[in-house]
Amino acid sequence: MNSDRFDKAAAAWDQLQRRVDLSHAIAAGITQLPLRKDMAAMEYGCGTGLVGLELAPLLGSLTAVDTSAGMLEVLAEKAGEAGLTNVTPLCLDLTIGNLSGRFDLIFLAMTLHHIEETGLILEKFHHLLNDGGILAIADLDRENGTFHSPGAGEKHHGFSRQELAQEAMALGFSDLRFSTIHTIKKTGADGCCQDYPVFLLTAKKEHVIE
Ligand SMILES: C[S@@+](CC[C@H](N)C(=O)[O-])C[C@H]1O[C@@H](n2cnc3c(N)ncnc32)[C@H](O)[C@@H]1O
Repeated sequence: MNSDRFDKAAAAWDQLQRRVDLSHAIAAGITQLPLRKDMAAMEYGCGTGLVGLELAPLLGSLTAVDTSAGMLEVLAEKAGEAGLTNVTPLCLDLTIGNLSGRFDLIFLAMTLHHIEETGLILEKFHHLLNDGGILAIADLDRENGTFHSPGAGEKHHGFSRQELAQEAMALGFSDLRFSTIHTIKKTGADGCCQDYPVFLLTAKKEHVIE
Protein backbone atom coordinates (compact mmCIF):
# COMPACT_ATOMS: atom_id res chain seq x y z
CA MET A 1 0.00 0.00 0.00
CA ASN A 2 1.12 3.57 -0.77
CA SER A 3 0.67 4.65 2.88
CA ASP A 4 3.44 2.20 3.93
CA ARG A 5 5.92 4.10 1.76
CA PHE A 6 4.90 7.43 3.29
CA ASP A 7 4.88 5.95 6.83
CA LYS A 8 8.51 4.93 6.31
CA ALA A 9 9.46 8.31 4.82
CA ALA A 10 7.75 10.39 7.53
CA ALA A 11 10.59 10.75 10.06
CA ALA A 12 13.04 12.15 7.47
CA TRP A 13 10.46 13.92 5.25
CA ASP A 14 11.32 17.47 6.36
CA GLN A 15 15.08 16.98 5.93
CA LEU A 16 15.08 17.47 2.15
CA GLN A 17 15.79 21.16 1.50
CA ARG A 18 14.19 21.26 -1.95
CA ARG A 19 10.95 19.92 -0.40
CA VAL A 20 11.07 22.63 2.27
CA ASP A 21 11.71 25.31 -0.40
CA LEU A 22 8.79 24.04 -2.48
CA SER A 23 6.47 24.02 0.56
CA HIS A 24 7.37 27.63 1.40
CA ALA A 25 6.59 28.64 -2.19
CA ILE A 26 3.24 26.83 -2.11
CA ALA A 27 2.33 28.34 1.28
CA ALA A 28 3.30 31.80 -0.02
CA GLY A 29 1.07 31.26 -3.07
CA ILE A 30 -1.92 30.22 -0.94
CA THR A 31 -1.31 33.20 1.37
CA GLN A 32 -2.16 35.46 -1.61
CA LEU A 33 -5.76 34.19 -1.33
CA PRO A 34 -8.17 36.09 0.94
CA LEU A 35 -7.49 33.99 4.06
CA ARG A 36 -9.37 34.83 7.28
CA LYS A 37 -9.06 33.82 10.92
CA ASP A 38 -12.64 32.46 10.84
CA MET A 39 -12.04 30.07 7.94
CA ALA A 40 -12.49 26.33 8.32
CA ALA A 41 -9.79 24.78 6.13
CA MET A 42 -8.81 21.27 5.12
CA GLU A 43 -5.48 20.17 3.71
CA TYR A 44 -5.79 16.91 1.81
CA GLY A 45 -2.60 14.81 1.76
CA CYS A 46 -1.03 17.05 4.39
CA GLY A 47 2.02 14.88 5.03
CA THR A 48 4.07 16.26 7.93
CA GLY A 49 2.37 19.66 7.61
CA LEU A 50 5.16 21.49 5.75
CA VAL A 51 2.54 23.67 4.03
CA GLY A 52 -0.42 23.39 6.39
CA LEU A 53 1.35 24.32 9.62
CA GLU A 54 2.69 27.49 7.96
CA LEU A 55 -0.89 28.50 7.06
CA ALA A 56 -2.67 27.36 10.25
CA PRO A 57 -1.99 30.61 12.21
CA LEU A 58 -3.83 32.53 9.44
CA LEU A 59 -6.91 30.31 9.62
CA GLY A 60 -9.70 29.50 12.07
CA SER A 61 -9.17 25.75 11.97
CA LEU A 62 -7.23 23.26 9.88
CA THR A 63 -8.31 19.65 9.39
CA ALA A 64 -5.12 17.92 8.26
CA VAL A 65 -6.07 14.78 6.31
CA ASP A 66 -3.73 12.05 5.13
CA THR A 67 -3.78 8.28 4.60
CA SER A 68 -0.39 7.83 6.28
CA ALA A 69 -0.58 7.52 10.07
CA GLY A 70 3.22 8.00 10.19
CA MET A 71 3.00 11.39 8.43
CA LEU A 72 0.15 12.47 10.73
CA GLU A 73 2.15 11.51 13.83
CA VAL A 74 4.98 13.84 12.78
CA LEU A 75 2.46 16.59 11.95
CA ALA A 76 0.78 16.29 15.36
CA GLU A 77 4.13 16.48 17.14
CA LYS A 78 5.16 19.59 15.17
CA ALA A 79 1.78 21.27 15.76
CA GLY A 80 2.15 20.60 19.49
CA GLU A 81 5.69 22.01 19.57
CA ALA A 82 4.49 25.14 17.71
CA GLY A 83 1.58 25.59 20.15
CA LEU A 84 -0.98 25.35 17.34
CA THR A 85 -4.30 24.39 18.93
CA ASN A 86 -6.46 24.75 15.80
CA VAL A 87 -5.04 21.76 13.86
CA THR A 88 -6.86 18.40 13.82
CA PRO A 89 -5.03 15.47 12.18
CA LEU A 90 -7.32 12.96 10.48
CA CYS A 91 -6.39 9.63 8.89
CA LEU A 92 -8.81 9.24 5.99
CA ASP A 93 -8.94 8.28 2.33
CA LEU A 94 -11.68 10.38 0.76
CA THR A 95 -11.66 8.24 -2.39
CA ILE A 96 -13.26 5.46 -0.33
CA GLY A 97 -14.67 7.30 2.72
CA ASN A 98 -16.52 10.48 3.57
CA LEU A 99 -16.29 13.44 5.89
CA SER A 100 -19.27 15.23 7.41
CA GLY A 101 -17.86 18.81 7.84
CA ARG A 102 -17.91 21.73 5.41
CA PHE A 103 -14.91 23.94 4.59
CA ASP A 104 -14.20 27.46 3.33
CA LEU A 105 -10.83 26.40 1.92
CA ILE A 106 -9.44 23.06 0.75
CA PHE A 107 -5.81 22.88 -0.36
CA LEU A 108 -3.43 20.21 -1.61
CA ALA A 109 0.34 20.24 -2.10
CA MET A 110 1.91 17.57 -4.36
CA THR A 111 -0.85 15.10 -3.47
CA LEU A 112 -3.20 15.03 -6.48
CA HIS A 113 -0.69 13.04 -8.57
CA HIS A 114 -0.97 10.22 -6.01
CA ILE A 115 -4.72 9.89 -6.51
CA GLU A 116 -5.91 7.81 -9.45
CA GLU A 117 -9.46 9.14 -9.70
CA THR A 118 -8.98 12.88 -10.09
CA GLY A 119 -12.64 13.47 -11.05
CA LEU A 120 -13.94 11.63 -8.00
CA ILE A 121 -11.75 13.53 -5.54
CA LEU A 122 -12.53 16.91 -7.14
CA GLU A 123 -16.23 16.08 -6.83
CA LYS A 124 -15.76 15.28 -3.12
CA PHE A 125 -13.95 18.60 -2.61
CA HIS A 126 -16.77 20.45 -4.38
CA HIS A 127 -19.30 18.77 -2.09
CA LEU A 128 -17.22 19.56 1.04
CA LEU A 129 -16.79 23.26 0.23
CA ASN A 130 -19.21 25.91 1.41
CA ASP A 131 -20.69 28.11 -1.33
CA GLY A 132 -18.01 30.63 -2.27
CA GLY A 133 -15.34 28.32 -0.82
CA ILE A 134 -11.89 28.08 -2.39
CA LEU A 135 -9.97 25.09 -3.75
CA ALA A 136 -6.19 25.46 -4.13
CA ILE A 137 -4.13 22.71 -5.76
CA ALA A 138 -0.36 22.79 -6.14
CA ASP A 139 1.08 20.02 -8.29
CA LEU A 140 3.43 19.15 -11.12
CA ASP A 141 2.83 20.20 -14.67
CA ARG A 142 2.77 17.18 -16.96
CA GLU A 143 6.25 15.60 -16.90
CA ASN A 144 7.98 12.82 -18.79
CA GLY A 145 7.66 10.22 -16.02
CA THR A 146 11.12 10.85 -14.56
CA PHE A 147 10.11 12.87 -11.49
CA HIS A 148 9.54 9.81 -9.29
CA SER A 149 11.84 6.84 -8.80
CA PRO A 150 10.52 3.47 -9.95
CA GLY A 151 8.10 1.98 -7.39
CA ALA A 152 7.04 5.35 -5.97
CA GLY A 153 3.42 4.51 -6.69
CA GLU A 154 2.43 7.81 -8.30
CA LYS A 155 -0.74 7.66 -10.38
CA HIS A 156 -0.11 10.64 -12.71
CA HIS A 157 2.98 12.14 -14.30
CA GLY A 158 1.80 15.63 -13.48
CA PHE A 159 -1.20 17.25 -15.10
CA SER A 160 -2.20 19.16 -18.20
CA ARG A 161 -3.52 22.50 -16.88
CA GLN A 162 -6.15 22.56 -19.61
CA GLU A 163 -7.49 19.07 -18.85
CA LEU A 164 -7.55 19.73 -15.10
CA ALA A 165 -9.37 23.03 -15.66
CA GLN A 166 -11.97 21.31 -17.83
CA GLU A 167 -12.56 18.65 -15.18
CA ALA A 168 -12.94 21.27 -12.43
CA MET A 169 -15.27 23.50 -14.47
CA ALA A 170 -17.46 20.51 -15.38
CA LEU A 171 -18.00 19.99 -11.64
CA GLY A 172 -19.08 23.60 -11.09
CA PHE A 173 -15.83 25.30 -10.06
CA SER A 174 -15.41 28.81 -11.43
CA ASP A 175 -12.91 31.68 -11.46
CA LEU A 176 -10.01 29.29 -12.21
CA ARG A 177 -6.51 30.76 -12.10
CA PHE A 178 -3.18 29.07 -12.73
CA SER A 179 0.25 30.34 -11.85
CA THR A 180 3.69 28.73 -11.85
CA ILE A 181 4.70 29.06 -8.22
CA HIS A 182 7.95 27.11 -8.22
CA THR A 183 10.28 25.04 -10.37
CA ILE A 184 11.89 21.96 -8.83
CA LYS A 185 15.38 21.32 -10.15
CA LYS A 186 16.51 17.77 -9.59
CA THR A 187 18.09 14.73 -11.18
CA GLY A 188 15.26 12.61 -12.54
CA ALA A 189 14.95 8.83 -12.65
CA ASP A 190 16.74 8.92 -16.04
CA GLY A 191 19.86 10.48 -14.45
CA CYS A 192 19.36 13.87 -16.14
CA CYS A 193 19.04 17.12 -14.18
CA GLN A 194 15.73 18.65 -15.12
CA ASP A 195 13.28 21.43 -14.33
CA TYR A 196 9.87 20.33 -13.05
CA PRO A 197 7.48 23.33 -12.91
CA VAL A 198 4.81 23.33 -10.21
CA PHE A 199 1.48 25.11 -10.77
CA LEU A 200 -0.95 26.54 -8.27
CA LEU A 201 -4.56 26.27 -9.39
CA THR A 202 -7.15 28.24 -7.44
CA ALA A 203 -10.88 27.94 -8.06
CA LYS A 204 -14.13 28.85 -6.36
CA LYS A 205 -17.30 26.95 -5.66
CA GLU A 206 -20.02 29.20 -7.05
CA HIS A 207 -22.43 30.93 -4.69
CA VAL A 208 -25.82 29.37 -5.24
CA ILE A 209 -28.40 32.13 -5.74
CA GLU A 210 -31.77 30.87 -4.46
C1 LIG B 1 4.16 13.86 -1.98
S1 LIG B 1 3.42 13.75 -0.40
C2 LIG B 1 3.07 15.49 -0.05
C3 LIG B 1 2.92 15.74 1.42
C4 LIG B 1 2.74 17.21 1.79
N1 LIG B 1 1.58 17.79 1.17
C5 LIG B 1 3.99 18.00 1.43
O1 LIG B 1 3.89 18.86 0.53
O2 LIG B 1 5.04 17.77 2.04
C6 LIG B 1 1.82 13.10 -0.74
C7 LIG B 1 0.98 12.87 0.50
O3 LIG B 1 -0.31 12.41 0.10
C8 LIG B 1 -0.70 11.34 0.94
N2 LIG B 1 -1.65 10.52 0.19
C9 LIG B 1 -1.40 9.65 -0.82
N3 LIG B 1 -2.56 9.12 -1.26
C10 LIG B 1 -3.56 9.69 -0.54
C11 LIG B 1 -4.98 9.59 -0.53
N4 LIG B 1 -5.63 8.75 -1.35
N5 LIG B 1 -5.67 10.31 0.36
C12 LIG B 1 -5.03 11.16 1.22
N6 LIG B 1 -3.70 11.31 1.26
C13 LIG B 1 -2.98 10.59 0.38
C14 LIG B 1 0.58 10.63 1.30
O4 LIG B 1 0.46 9.86 2.47
C15 LIG B 1 1.55 11.80 1.45
O5 LIG B 1 1.58 12.31 2.76
